[in-house]
Amino acid sequence: MTEPLTVLGLESSCDDTAAAVVSHAPGGAPDILANIVMGQTDLHAAFGGVVPEIAARAHAERLDLCVEQALEQAGIGLEGIDAVAVTAGPGLIGGVMAGVMCAKGIAAGRGLPLIGVNHLAGHALTPRLTDGLDFPYPVLLASGGHCQFLIARGAEAFTRLGGTIDDAPGEAFDKTAKLLGLEQPGGPAVERCARTGDAHRFRFPRPLLDRAGCDLSFSGLKTALLRARDGVVAEHGGSLPEQDRSDLCAGFQAAVAEVLAEKSRRALETFLVEHPAPAAFAVTGGVAANARIREALQAICARAGVRFIAPPAPLCTDNAAMIAWAGLERFRTGARDDMTLAARPRWPLDATAPALLGSGRKGAKA
Ligand code: KG4
Ligand code: ZN
Repeated sequence: MTEPLTVLGLESSCDDTAAAVVSHAPGGAPDILANIVMGQTDLHAAFGGVVPEIAARAHAERLDLCVEQALEQAGIGLEGIDAVAVTAGPGLIGGVMAGVMCAKGIAAGRGLPLIGVNHLAGHALTPRLTDGLDFPYPVLLASGGHCQFLIARGAEAFTRLGGTIDDAPGEAFDKTAKLLGLEQPGGPAVERCARTGDAHRFRFPRPLLDRAGCDLSFSGLKTALLRARDGVVAEHGGSLPEQDRSDLCAGFQAAVAEVLAEKSRRALETFLVEHPAPAAFAVTGGVAANARIREALQAICARAGVRFIAPPAPLCTDNAAMIAWAGLERFRTGARDDMTLAARPRWPLDATAPALLGSGRKGAKA
């Protein structure tokens, strides 16, 4: 399909209600006409984490408003839309269902094609939206619920090279923030606090570096951080001084960055055996917004003589532009869904890869 396309995308798989409009004419660069994200941080703040039921209700209440705002920002009506793309999983099932129902309503009401999108594909295909990257390319997807190295071969073709066997790095950032009395989401809070910290004072473990391949683990880091924090608190009669908090954040962030960089080096090496340079390595997902982690990955790519791609932070964290884009890519391959499209709590991108589940204490998320 070669004509220009304009796609409305909806995202509601976690705690961001989002709608976006992306338009693309073959041969040109994609255009993000609108990108609205309504966060829910305030709704979950009192609970120290995302409460699925509260998230689902908020999505159901806000999705239509979000779509309205996106169309207004894009300066078009539904008559200017060629297809409706929606996250159909993986994610918190109530929220995913709210998005799928909203998209079905719009598609049925307007006679528009409906495209179900894998949220992870949305993240993994973002480097094509932002930088026009050609297939195949290796990508690290690091977010609050996921962490995996993939080779993106097509809109729906991914090979997983490795991933976390327990927690996701974003989850580890969030837990670290909680343990240190910082606000949620923890990633930006920990990054901010780490700026004035000494990354060398606390030497945290570098999990799984001694194991071949590019699987990762983050749950041990959290335990190490808890012990270090308790040590400091005991020393200071029950309080956690500002400088110690910063040092803990900096040490934790350095450990995550070093592990992600070394495993990225290995993933890149594996990719280059199959597809010699010129190549590019991309990072996406909320954790890719972290400047220290970007720096570490950039250095690995520079050493390998490979282009490094990290989309702008608002396109790394959850958004609907990536869903509209992934939907547009699926649409171009001729894919269509119908009213039987189901919301899926789990949906691995590479169904042929052996489950990481069970290789860690809690099991991977996808
Ligand atoms: O991709 P995302 O928005 O949602 C998921 O699909 O999970 O990622 C959210 C995660 C959260 O855990 C958040 O703490 C983390 O990404 N994050 C960061 C930063 N910004 C967001 N982690 C580290 N540094 C950041 N600057
Ligand atoms: Zn995400």
